Order: sequence, then C-alpha cells, then structure tokens
Amino acid sequence: MQTQPHGGFETLAIHAGQQPDPVTGAVVPPIYQVSTYKQDGVGGLRGKELGDAARWIEGYDYSRTDNPTRGALEECLAALEGGARSLTFASGLAASDCLLRVVCKPGDHVLIPADAYGGTFRLFDKILSDWGVSYRPVPMSDSTAVRAALADRPAKLVWLETPTNPLLAIADIAALAQLARDAGALLVVDNTFASPYLQQPLALGADVVVHSTTKYIGGHSDVVGGAVVVADPGLGEHLYFVRNAVGSPPGPFDAWLTLRGAKTLAVRMDRHCLNAARIADMLASHPEVSQVFYPGLVSHPGHEIAAKQMRGFGGMVSFRARRGAAAAVEICGRTQLFTLGESLGGVESLIEHPARMTHASVAGSPLEVPADLVRLSVGIESADDLIEDLRTVLGDPRTR
Ligand SMILES: Cc1ncc(COP(=O)(O)O)c(C=O)c1O
Repeated sequence: MQTQPHGGFETLAIHAGQQPDPVTGAVVPPIYQVSTYKQDGVGGLRGKELGDAARWIEGYDYSRTDNPTRGALEECLAALEGGARSLTFASGLAASDCLLRVVCKPGDHVLIPADAYGGTFRLFDKILSDWGVSYRPVPMSDSTAVRAALADRPAKLVWLETPTNPLLAIADIAALAQLARDAGALLVVDNTFASPYLQQPLALGADVVVHSTTKYIGGHSDVVGGAVVVADPGLGEHLYFVRNAVGSPPGPFDAWLTLRGAKTLAVRMDRHCLNAARIADMLASHPEVSQVFYPGLVSHPGHEIAAKQMRGFGGMVSFRARRGAAAAVEICGRTQLFTLGESLGGVESLIEHPARMTHASVAGSPLEVPADLVRLSVGIESADDLIEDLRTVLGDPRTR
C-alpha cells in the first residue's frame, strides 16, 4: 500500500499509486510482465529490505495473486472512486461475476435495471439463475417501483446502471442507497457510462462500484478490463480472496494500458461531454429523428437528477430513427467518421444498432430495446466533423 497523494481528481489520476520507482526512478510504474518472483529462502519474499519507499514492490510471490503494475492501477482507481479498495479483473463482466459470487448465495434475490447492458442481463439470466440466484427487472429511475419491489421480496442487492446502456435513463443514487440500506440490501452501481470523473456513487451512499475499464477509463479502445471498488475493506478482502481463487485478474500489460488511460480521463471526459451535448442538440431538432436520449437535454426526464449527481452528462447519446428499424440499421452502416462497432468510451466515435449488436442477448426479454434505436459513443474528434458526418447520413435539414 503506497502513501496516497491528496488533491483533486486530475492529480489523483496521475499520481495515486504511481510514485516513481524507488529502484530505477522510472516515473511511471513499469510493466512487471512476470508470472513468478524469486524468493530468498522459502517464504522469503523480496522488497522489505528497501524500506518504506518500496512498500509497493514488496512481498510478491505469484502474479495471479498480486502484481505491482496491477497494484498501481488498483490504488489509482480506489482513489478516483473514493473507495477503501479496488480490485481489477480481466473484463468488466469478470468483475461483476466475481462480485456476485462473493455477495450472493443460492436462494438470494436481486433487483436489476429494466434497461441494462445486455451482457450484465445475460450474466443474471443465464448464469446466476442456474446457480439459484433470482432477479427481477425494475425501472430504477422510478424510486417508488424500487421501494415496492424491495417490500415485495427481500433482496440481497440492488444493481444499478446510471446512465443506463443504451437508453440513458437516470436513477437517483442517493435515494436508492437509502432505500437499499433500509431494506438491508447492498447498492451496486455500474459506473461505466459516467466514469468516476463525472459521478462518484460511493460518496452518494452506494456500497460498491463496478466498471468496465474497457470503456472511458481505458479510453483508447485498446484494452479489455474491469474493476470493483468497495467502501468496505472487509468486502475488499473477500473479493481479493475469491479473485485469486477463481483466477480472473488482468495481465500486467493490460493493467498498464488501463492506468495510462486513467491519467487523461478528466480531460477526455470534458471533451466527450461537450461533443455529445452538441450532437444531442442537433439530433433533437432533426426531422429524421423521433426521440433523443441524452441526460443533458432539459427535456430528458432524469435531467435534474443527473445535474445533481453528475459533473457532466457524458459522451453517450442514443436516438430513434423516425423511419423505423430498417432506417436505423441503414444509418449505422453509412457514417464515415463514426465507426460501426460495439463498445464505447474511446477517443474515436462509434455508432451501433443495440437491438442487433450489444443488446442482442436481451431480445424477447423485458429488457428488449427498440429496434429503431441507434447508439452513439461520441468521441473527442472535432464536433463539427462529427455533426457533418451525421448530417450527411440523416440529411441536412438546413438544405431542404
Ligand atoms: C455498462 C456496461 N457494464 C459492463 C460491461 C461489460 O464490460 P466488458 O465488456 O469489459 O466485460 C459493458 C460492456 O459493454 C457495459 O457497457
């Protein structure tokens, strides 16, 4: 455990967990691409002789259990979310899976969002249900519905996404944290869409934050990873035990890429927010678009709550094509600058058709998404160029 620097978000992103290497002076944590570590006699793990300055490179025996590059990333993420501890994983879903195996036991019940990432739904629907954990989809933006569901049947945890993927619905984290606490349930927030720069659920009363670090934290579409950040150190220790027991941490290079991404999270997010707001405005007045989902629009039903709990409204925008599903598919295939692809949160803009791509696994379920929906991950290119690209495909209403 390193001595944590204090300071603002941007300072923590660059310095938390990242003191210069005490031996070489390297200013960024090196990639410790290694599986095992020489011991000086059985049980004689190295590092103690270097004293306090080197506590972060002390005591390693095997990289499934601990690795210094991964440790640096975990210190940084815990600081960014204001948590007691962070554990990282090979993917966002590996992080969710480990958390759920730690918290839930057969017979437990959980509340999940009525609109959530398809892979998270699949984890509950196809994996955990076989394991005896039942779930109920609830519209989390409706606190009354959550209260009623908790009164109806005791839940072990409430799983939240805010904003949701792909409909950008907003839930009131502080209100749901109180409801969950009163009902004896844990509140878990998947903070992937907002990132810790825009929203800090633990400070609002949540117990656990989950991330797909593949997205905004990594930020460059070059690495897959996940993280769990907890307020309770005891839960952190349990997660650490299970992650080692099941073997789902990220490799050192992936941890290093993710940490490099995290350093610039704040400046990237500011630009994602600016660009997305301009695009949402343009789409909101476009005749080929029947509905825009972006929490920054005052017409969005969750706008006021988002303004209260988020520093900015994020880089994700979804919209419905007025001419229906076929038009939505066509729009996705015709943009030049927006790349047609799954995932989100990278510096480059992406476009996709959730019903046939990221959310195909919710087809036929209560979480099914509209077939005319298009989802944009707005990158940090020039906003004018992005708008031009969309106008070329949708038609330019100014020239009609
Ligand atoms: C909101 C959200 N949570 C979790 C995940 C899963 O993350 P990963 O793909 O890193 O496993 C995703 C992936 O798209 C996501 O969008």
